[in-house]
Amino acid sequence: MTPRVVVGLGPVDPELVVPVLGPSVRFVPDPTPEDFAIAEGAIVRAAVDVDRTLLDRMPALRVLARTGVGVDRIDLGAAAERGIPVTITPGSNARAVAEGAFTMLASLIKRMGESHAHVVGGRWGIAAAPTPGDLFGATLAVIGYGRIGRIVAGFAAAFGMEVLVHDPFVQAETHENVSLDDAVRRADAITLHLPGDGGELVTPDLLAAARPGLVLVNCARASLVRTETLARALADGTLGGVGLDVFDTEPVTAAAIDTHPLVGHPGVMFSPHTTGLSERALVETMRLAAESVRAVLHGRAPAAVAPAAPPHRHTPPHRHTPPHRHTPPHRHTPPHRHTPPPQTPASEPQTGEHT
Ligand SMILES: NC(=O)c1ccc[n+]([C@@H]2O[C@H](COP(=O)([O-])OP(=O)(O)OC[C@H]3O[C@@H](n4cnc5c(N)ncnc54)[C@H](O)[C@@H]3O)[C@@H](O)[C@H]2O)c1
Repeated sequence: MTPRVVVGLGPVDPELVVPVLGPSVRFVPDPTPEDFAIAEGAIVRAAVDVDRTLLDRMPALRVLARTGVGVDRIDLGAAAERGIPVTITPGSNARAVAEGAFTMLASLIKRMGESHAHVVGGRWGIAAAPTPGDLFGATLAVIGYGRIGRIVAGFAAAFGMEVLVHDPFVQAETHENVSLDDAVRRADAITLHLPGDGGELVTPDLLAAARPGLVLVNCARASLVRTETLARALADGTLGGVGLDVFDTEPVTAAAIDTHPLVGHPGVMFSPHTTGLSERALVETMRLAAESVRAVLHGRAPAAVAPAAPPHRHTPPHRHTPPHRHTPPHRHTPPHRHTPPPQTPASEPQTGEHT
């Protein structure tokens, strides 16, 4: 039997997908026009645009497997017209992001970056060194208690931190679920793990109630807090540390970093949107993407598919709305933030990840 052709769109390591796709498939990482013409499946990386033109070149296509959850660069309408399911891999990098966020948080609280700079700057001497903070006994506010937030909360609890949760749409069985105001007011550190499509969440007003020296980590979406808000809060001591994995414009160019308002502050730590890109996460992401292709080619339902068109974030199906047990009347939260979040893989945030 002639093997079925599955192509890689963007870098896809054959070693990670071929064993999962199985012997009846020929995987082509660098497809030619001839490969496109007969491809029945495609594994698509985050940075690749899949538009009508590309779909027209793949008339035999039966499944598009996106690595990660972001399908904003895929023409979902065109795929739906052709009856091609677009599969996604929700949660495949949740642990990696959680580890990255918690590592940032712990490093900032322990003032590791400053200590390092102190030593390499020739300033050895305990008296002059920055005093590390303590994880044990400190209060961490986890904003967004979904896949990633739950793991971070578990890490924090294991370090003896008191964990507060703010998530109006889920029940936080083991932690106190409080209003956003309360979370910020009571926290020594705050970490963001919610979708970014509701816009700004951490406003200057909200931070005004924070304890001085609050540490803030954002590995979710840049839209949740403005850079100017962070810069001002760092300058006046409201914030003692800021960790960012996400930026308004990505990639952050060398020119942009030269004028970035947070650069140069000792309590700032950046990573280039890579917290979700651990080796293990990549292997798992590729495995899940290849499994989805295999499932469709064998006539089975894939584990998770993207909706045919981006969901209207403000009117989700009512059945996805969990009890609003802790939904507070948020003074600082724009009303549209009360939109219930996705509760199923098929209604993932339609944002791109570096997977
Ligand atoms: N840095 C990275 O590489 C990376 C990788 C994966 C995901 N992410 C981002 O991390 C965030 C969380 O991802 P996840 O997989 O845990 O998502 P998730 O959908 O599993 O969880 C999100 C949680 O946020 C809650 N939420 C929604 N609106 C809220 C609000 N206004 N206030 C408080 N909570 C609210 C939801 O109820 C849900 O429990 C998303 O923004 C996602 O895009 C980043």
